[in-house]
Parts: sequence; C-alpha cells; structure tokens
Amino acid sequence: MGSAALFFFLEPDNALLSDVNGDLVNAFTAVRDHPIAVHNRLKKLPTGSDSYYKTRAVDPDELPPLDAAARFIYLNRFCFNGLYRTNTAGKFNVPYSPSKTGRIPSREKLIEVSQKLQGKRILQADYAKILGSHVRRSDFIYLDPPYAVENRRIFKQYGPHVFGSSDMEELASCLEKIDAKEASFLLSYAYSREALDLFGGWTTHRVYAQRNIAGFVKHRRRACELLVTNIC
Ligand SMILES: C[S@@+](CC[C@H](N)C(=O)[O-])C[C@H]1O[C@@H](n2cnc3c(N)ncnc32)[C@H](O)[C@@H]1O
Repeated sequence: MGSAALFFFLEPDNALLSDVNGDLVNAFTAVRDHPIAVHNRLKKLPTGSDSYYKTRAVDPDELPPLDAAARFIYLNRFCFNGLYRTNTAGKFNVPYSPSKTGRIPSREKLIEVSQKLQGKRILQADYAKILGSHVRRSDFIYLDPPYAVENRRIFKQYGPHVFGSSDMEELASCLEKIDAKEASFLLSYAYSREALDLFGGWTTHRVYAQRNIAGFVKHRRRACELLVTNIC
C-alpha cells in the first residue's frame, strides 16, 4: 500500500489494500471511516519543532486509533521529506523538517480520500500471507516492495524487519503462485542485476521514476526501475 498512489490513480471499484506497517494501515482505516474526526485531531496538534518531537515520542500503540492516525499523518507531513524510517526498536525516528510538506491535509481532502476508500478492504499483514489467502482468478495485483538491492540503502528505510535480500526469492515464488491462479501481477522494483536474474523470465520493462522522498538529495534523482508482469 504505502501511499497507495496506484490505487488512487486507478480508482478501482473493488480493492484490497495491504501493508505490513500497522501504523500506516490504522491511518488509512481511520481516514476511510472517520475523516472529520481525524481532521479535528490533526488541527489540535500544535506545529513547531517541540511539538513535533513530543508527538514523535508518544508510543502510537498507547493511543486510541483515531489519535494514532492523526499522529501518523502529522509526523508524515512535518518530518524530513515525508520519509518513513524507524530505528531498530521500530520507533519512528525521522527528524523535524517541515519546509517541503509542512501543512496538514484539509478537511475536504480527507473527506475526498475517505470517499475513494469506501467499501475497500484495508489489511495489515505480510504480503505473502495476503497473496496466499486472497488471490482469485482474474485479480490484478500490484506489488511495490522496498528494494533489497545490495549496496543500496533505500530498502532499510521502512523499518527494522522489512524486506531484506533473502525476501526476494520468496517474492519470485509469490509471482509464480499468482500466475498459477490465473491472476495478473505488476511488480515494480529497482533495475538491478539481482532483479533481472530473478524476474527476467517474465515480461519486463525498464522505466524511469522520479524519486521525491529519499532522505538524501542524490537519491532523489530519476531512478531506473524494472516493471515485471505476466500481462503480455
Ligand atoms: C515502496 S513502498 C510502497 C509505495 C507505494 N507504492 C506508494 O504508492 O506509495 C513499500 C511498502 O511496502 C511495505 N512493506 C514492506 N515489507 C512488507 C511486507 N513484508 N509485507 C507487506 N508490506 C510490506 C512498507 O511498509 C511500505 O509501505
């Protein structure tokens, strides 16, 4: 899911959105079901560096879901480049830096997002579990995992335990299973030797994507990506 950009672009009638990040899933669920209540909570959070660090220090698991959702969106808007990164204990640790994204979404925007999410399932789970239990014939599945490419730091930015190099083989086997169920998939991945070795048997396309949220400017240039699909 991440920011679910493809979902919001396609606006499918039916969809299941999932991510392993419970805080993110809670925020999407809260906006879908209670956009105005989330917005009211967001408005009450004072801006500024002190407030940011106080809010960041709160354990979201100790908060009621709507407050945790407001905290998540607030931190996302006022942190450095909208980045999501945690320390080894799983605590969000991105510093304050509101210059690019520092404003909360409007009430109207949250209502609009909520409307687009109506009737959509939003689940927290490992992607392999979701694929094992939810894929049906003719489904379209979009996978956009963190990149586990040697010598690149980006894949570490989502949390301490998400997606390392060893997960790539499991991903390759998941693609086989999706195809065996006669469903379609589209995977986006860093263009790399590892990816070509593992996924090169499928239809592939090389594309360039603008990176806007990497922590360092040098990583925010146009990245070369590999699209992998079983749609001919
Ligand atoms: C590259 S981002 C997805 C970006 C998304 N396409 C967007 O539009 O913003 C990768 C996402 O995969 C999630 N993730 C990482 N490991 C996962 C796993 N094992 N199962 C499910 N989701 C996972 C991360 O929490 C993160 O939100």
